[in-house]
Amino acid sequence: MKIGFYQFRPLFGKTKSNLSKIIKALHNVDADLIVLPELALTGYNFSGREEAVALGEDPEQSMAVAALTQLCRQQDLHIVIGFAEKKQDKLFNSALLIGANGLVHTYRKIHLFNEEKNCFDPGDTPLALQEVKGTKIGMMICFDWVFPEVCRSLALQGAHIICHPSNLVLNYCQQTMLSRCLENSVFAVTTNRFGSDRRPHGEVRFTGKSQIVAPKGKLLHRALSQRQALFITEIDPVQAEDKSMTALNDLFADRRPEFYSVLTACE
Ligand code: ACM
Repeated sequence: MKIGFYQFRPLFGKTKSNLSKIIKALHNVDADLIVLPELALTGYNFSGREEAVALGEDPEQSMAVAALTQLCRQQDLHIVIGFAEKKQDKLFNSALLIGANGLVHTYRKIHLFNEEKNCFDPGDTPLALQEVKGTKIGMMICFDWVFPEVCRSLALQGAHIICHPSNLVLNYCQQTMLSRCLENSVFAVTTNRFGSDRRPHGEVRFTGKSQIVAPKGKLLHRALSQRQALFITEIDPVQAEDKSMTALNDLFADRRPEFYSVLTACE
């Protein structure tokens, strides 16, 4: 299976030109699955909820989703893209899985980062898997990385690949994802953006370094910090089904959930 990422610099509020950039970059791509950054069409640094709502869209009525669907059909491709998702009076920081027949699945970010709490509603979709050409993929978004339960929940359901659209501003995630892939024996595609959103209310800078990690925490490729990058590599998703650590240790079979009940206590 050929998987990859497209790291670029979305321009704040320039939804149409951000979409054109993506379509131009991917129009000839030879891949099965490409992951794009979080909020790839709108940009990130909203002045507040009102502005975020004005830039958000319902994926079911979005020309951008229609254009990406057409791209997927032409290229026999699936895309995961971060998207400001408007649904009735709610606004979610979402990841869309799009294929040749349109929107396949929506994941709504469950752990909002910093000022996102002033713009978005917290996600309300379960951590579920989807199949792309027989491979099981799970989605999470950016700051979800700091909650190991997210990768674990996806891996325990049988995920081969975790698709991770991001707009990272801290420097911890890329290295931490090596551990997430080691402890869960999964692949992960973390696609970050680069550049900054400079707005009248302040500036947010992003750290780039998009990457693909394999089971055993092996870094297959990491992009530079402040450069555009389209990277595709061939992987064997079946590698993620081997959860053995030693001859006598299995990452999942050796778990002792009876000692972890505090993890799932809601209060
Ligand atoms: C982030 O979750 N965008 C840092």
